[in-house]
Amino acid sequence: MDARESLRRYLEQRRELGESELVLDTLSVEDALKLLGAANVLPREEAPVSTDWRAALRAAGGVPEARPSMPSMPAVRDVPAVVAAGPADAPRVPLGDIPAGIAMGRSNRAPGDQFIYELATLEDIAAVVAKCTRCDLYRTALNPVPGTGNPNADFMVVGEAPGADEDQQGVPFIGKAGQLLTKILAAINLSRDDVFIANVLKHRPPGNRNPLPDEVTVCSPYLVRQIELVKPKVILALGTFAAQTLLETKITIGKLRGQVHRYHGVPLIVTYHPAALLRNPAWKRPTWEDVQLADRILRQ
Ligand code: URA
Repeated sequence: MDARESLRRYLEQRRELGESELVLDTLSVEDALKLLGAANVLPREEAPVSTDWRAALRAAGGVPEARPSMPSMPAVRDVPAVVAAGPADAPRVPLGDIPAGIAMGRSNRAPGDQFIYELATLEDIAAVVAKCTRCDLYRTALNPVPGTGNPNADFMVVGEAPGADEDQQGVPFIGKAGQLLTKILAAINLSRDDVFIANVLKHRPPGNRNPLPDEVTVCSPYLVRQIELVKPKVILALGTFAAQTLLETKITIGKLRGQVHRYHGVPLIVTYHPAALLRNPAWKRPTWEDVQLADRILRQ
């Protein structure tokens, strides 16, 4: 493939992922050379694809050995717990060397959403989602995808919206991206049964189009209530859409990651969506760092 074509595809991929600026900090030298059409660089497509998450990370330059220490980051137990669980107006106090990010959480709840905030269990939420007509997505979706996992999980994963596989089976993250997510979790010794996994949207947008603002507005209270009931110690937000939606910002994922945000009082770490990792292995290393950060918070 010629250099221009490679570069065009790369830029399209970034745009697809919601990136409006080009940050090359996670691009490896090999990738950059490849994009420029340099000789003697094995095109990634021809490289053997490892199905082992740790091996793939290693190949991408990460160090996914068992719980490696990261000297560049302080142990979270050394970090003062200064941003108390609380609403959006929680102060932005730095967490040691890890920058504190955005604190998000509405203190004013729309009266029309009140019935959702009164749902007592995750099963109740799932039952209401199954009959939800608050937006039009239920018309085209095959199944509701409310969320799955441990109702008392300390670790919660939030994605964007169900894709085709999830729509078929009513379970989040079971397609290719989901299988990679399972491996990522395993790398920090978490099984899917240890965590709770949900999406911002509970029904699939047709053709996997981006969620519309109105859909997010009416669907988000389900997620907020799920978080209130699960009470996780940490949330991992996957991908640009989940991160920007939860944090109500247009800041790019490259800038949102590496900070400890707060969502309704819960520490929230942003990382790349596994679907993006499948297309851009250069993001595996920063993802590994993000996942480790989430793991540190979990274990503090
Ligand atoms: N992508 C998501 O964001 N969520 C899913 O459940 C599947 C793919």
